[in-house]
Formats: sequence, C-alpha cells, structure tokens
Amino acid sequence: MNATLLDRLRTELDERRATVGLRRDLVVSGPQGPTLGVDGETLVNLAANDYLGLAGDPEVLESAQRALRDMGLGVTAGRVLCGTRAIHGELEAGIAELVGAEDAVLYSSCFDANLGVFNALLGPDDTVLSDALNHASLIDGIRLTPARRYVFAHADLDELERRLAESADARTRLIVTDGVFSMDGDIAALLRISELARRYDAALMVDDSHATGVLGPTGAGTAEHFGLQGGVDVLTGTLGKALGGAGGFVAGDRAVVETLRQVSRPYIFTNAMAPPLAVAALTAIRIARRRPELRERLTANTAWLRGALRDQGYDVLPGEHPIIPVMLPGGSRARDVAAALRRDGVLVFALSHPVVPAGEERIRVQVSAAHTAEQLELAAVAFGRARAVLAGS
Ligand SMILES: Cc1ncc(COP(=O)(O)O)c(C=O)c1O
Repeated sequence: MNATLLDRLRTELDERRATVGLRRDLVVSGPQGPTLGVDGETLVNLAANDYLGLAGDPEVLESAQRALRDMGLGVTAGRVLCGTRAIHGELEAGIAELVGAEDAVLYSSCFDANLGVFNALLGPDDTVLSDALNHASLIDGIRLTPARRYVFAHADLDELERRLAESADARTRLIVTDGVFSMDGDIAALLRISELARRYDAALMVDDSHATGVLGPTGAGTAEHFGLQGGVDVLTGTLGKALGGAGGFVAGDRAVVETLRQVSRPYIFTNAMAPPLAVAALTAIRIARRRPELRERLTANTAWLRGALRDQGYDVLPGEHPIIPVMLPGGSRARDVAAALRRDGVLVFALSHPVVPAGEERIRVQVSAAHTAEQLELAAVAFGRARAVLAGS
C-alpha cells in the first residue's frame, strides 16, 4: 500500500465529507417501474428516465429471458474478436430505422459512445463547438481529441455563429449539442443550429439520450420533433432511458459509422453487449414504434404534473419534456422538499452545486408513461404538503 497516495485520498475525502458531503447510493429493491422499493417502502418513482415505461414491460423482459436461455449472458470478447452475434447487427439496423439514419453502431453505454466519437472523427486541424451545458460524457470525449475547442454559452446561437465565423480555417467544424439538456429539460433549437451548420459548412452532432423514443411522432428524436430531415451528421443515444435497458449507440451516414467501427477505441477495446440486453433493446424499439400511444400518455402525464406543480405555487422551468425542473434555489430548500416528499412516499432527488450552478438548486422530476393518474395525484398532493417545509426558509 502506498502511504503517500492513501494519506492524500483520506485527507481529500475528509475535506469532501466536511464540505459538500459524501454521496451515498440509494439501494433500491424489486423491479424497475413507476414505483420503487426503498427501505421496505414502496415509493412513487419520479427520479428515473423510464419515459415510456419499457424498463418493466413484460414483452421486453420475456424477450431478454428467452435470449438468456438461448444465447447465455456475457460473450467475453470484443465485437472485433468473437463477440459479435447476429442480434448486434439486427439491433444496429433497428436503431438506424428508429432514428432515420443509414447505419448505427453499438457501444456499452452512451457515455462510451461519446468518449469514442471525437478522437475517431477529428484531428488537430479540426474544431469542435460545444454547448456549455452538454453532458459530462461529451465534455470528456472532446477532451480526448486534439481538435481545437470552443465552448459557447448554453443555447447562445449568436456566440455559436461568431465562433463558426472565427474558425473558418478549420478542416472540419463539428457543432455538438444535447438534443434535450438533462438538467433543464429544454430542447436544443435544432432548426436554427442546423441552419447555422449548413451556412458555415459545419457538421452537426446531437446527443439524443433524453429524446430517443420520446420526441417526434415516431420517437425518432429531436430532429423529428422539429421536422428536420437529414440535418444531423452524428447522432448518439442511449438504450438505458426511454428504451428501458442499457447500452449506447452512434447513428449516421455509413461513412461515419464505418469509421467508428474501424478506429473508435471504446467500440474496439471492450466486450460486446450481452445478447439479452441487445434483444431487450430491439424489442423495446419495436414497441416504441408500434405504440405511439405511449408517447401520447407520456405527454398527457407530463402536462398534468407540470400544471399541478405550478398550481401548488412551485417555480417550474417552462418546457414540454418529461424532465420537469422544480427550482428551489438557496440553502437546503431543494433537499428539505425532497426529504419531505420521501416521507410522503415520493422519490425525487435534489440537485445542487456542482451538478447545477450554485443558486440554481432544484428537484428534477421525471415523468413516465407508466405512471397512473393515482400515482401522479399522490405526488402532487405530496408536493403541496411539502410547501410547509418552505414556509420558514
Ligand atoms: C445527455 C446524456 N448523454 C449521455 C448519457 C449517458 O448515457 P448512458 O447511461 O447510456 O451512459 C446520459 C445519461 O446520464 C445523458 O443524460
């Protein structure tokens, strides 16, 4: 044991404990769904990304069970060795069809996909232009490329345009944005962004983790939401939110996807996705396409809860996505309300610095198509009662 390393880590942990506190994972029991088991209680789950309720869908689970029986669990090899099964290709074709792209390639997660894109597609003569509120995995992926980087203020398209004008000498310019921003639930202004991309001959990359299966009439994502055809060059997404399982992907033109298969390190140097996960994701995609009523229910549930929280006097950031940020800035107000909700049978998390800027503390509520009217009403009543803890603050 190296005492120098351990002493430093212990000191840093003590400091962290004394200042921001140490994170402790909540241990949940039972299956994923609109309610969750926590410490022997059943809580209404407003904290997960199970937008279409597919994480607990019987058809999805049965397909994974069949795959487990037929193909086993892990493949103990990478895709480029003996890890590839027919289901991987079938899922990639299913993803491409869902998002309206020529081709797609699987990763272990969207975090891995975002780590694997930039280094593979860009070099030192290129420039990345990235929204300041992009997901951590995009930020880390961009750090791995030698390309020049500009970070523009969140949704500030005037700054983006200035940066595009300044980087005219770049070989390739790649604009990068979340489709839906995970903390604010706002949807990127993709029509204007893609217009800028066209005007400045830049490529456009969108992380649609919170939009795949959710936005657009067929669940294709943010571009479809805006009626945008073919404007996104590189699309990344997750199989672990609306599609209910786990895994990530990149979709786009065949040349983009083939390049990633050849050189993207998180694709090459890792185990292939476990077949039961791949089968479950393909089943979820088919359900998401076949059952638009899930998106309709999600929209109705979201609109109802947004309205109910506003009626209770909460400051809810405007929007239409099932991420509903309830702003409770200052001190421990967000944490106090989250604790009161938990006592009343509702699971939410308070977000504070450094996850969101200081002074923008909030509770992030996430709605699912699987929530019943009774569960949403229970949540709304609990939010109403929780106002009592704000009275003195
Ligand atoms: C915008 C965004 N991108 C990427 C990810 C990572 O997805 P995954 O869980 O598949 O790694 C997340 C999830 O937190 C996300 O919100």
